[in-house]
Amino acid sequence: MANHGWLPHDGKNIDLATIQSAFEAAMGFSTESFVGITQEALTVSTTGNSSTFNLQDLAHHNAIEHDGSLSRNDAFFGDDLHFNPVIWATTALRYGIRVPFSSPVITVETAAKARAARVKDAKLVNPAFNLTSQAGSIGETSVFLTAFWDESAGGVPKNYARVLFEEERIPYAEGFVKGNRTLADVVAMISKVGAVKV
Ligand code: HEM
Repeated sequence: MANHGWLPHDGKNIDLATIQSAFEAAMGFSTESFVGITQEALTVSTTGNSSTFNLQDLAHHNAIEHDGSLSRNDAFFGDDLHFNPVIWATTALRYGIRVPFSSPVITVETAAKARAARVKDAKLVNPAFNLTSQAGSIGETSVFLTAFWDESAGGVPKNYARVLFEEERIPYAEGFVKGNRTLADVVAMISKVGAVKV
């Protein structure tokens, strides 16, 4: 979002009103959608102002940031913030990105299984692995599916996911059009993701 300028480009001094207007303008999310997560972000703020946070603050381990991310390494290994091409390569394979003759979209089932598999991988290699609740991880997969879901295609176009993770931009150039999304849509998606047998 900051790469596009929807959020301040320097990632600094972001408040709830900025999150609300940015996610509405960029992706069509209604204003209640990210109140809860912004409140969590404010608990790890280093701005000196209790109403604002810096994007960098979100890397704080075990606040929102957690082990077993789809595209980032665990904090135990040193860098939990930046895109990690090795971690992502496995998720991309599980999403079926660049897998010839596979479906062009990521379904709820595919995303749910890829998420759970990454958590299992992280558990195996990280001696300090800690993910007491998987709610955050399931929530992120669900927000991702809700935001980029293409109703007519029946999933999230793989090209959208590739651009989001690898190029850190919103896939407007690939055809993404902002929808009309609410917190209720995210909650409904969380139920669907949680219902997949993994
Ligand atoms: C449409 C809105 C959003 C989408 C599509 C989205 C998507 C995602 C995705 C897919 C991940 C997982 C990345 C990974 O596992 O490698 C993630 C992680 C994260 N998101 Fe969001 N997000 C959104 C809004 C927000 C907001 C509003 C905040 C904070 C104010 C936030 C904070 C975070 C943080 C801190 C993580 C890291 C968690 C981890 O350790 O994996 N997100 N988000």
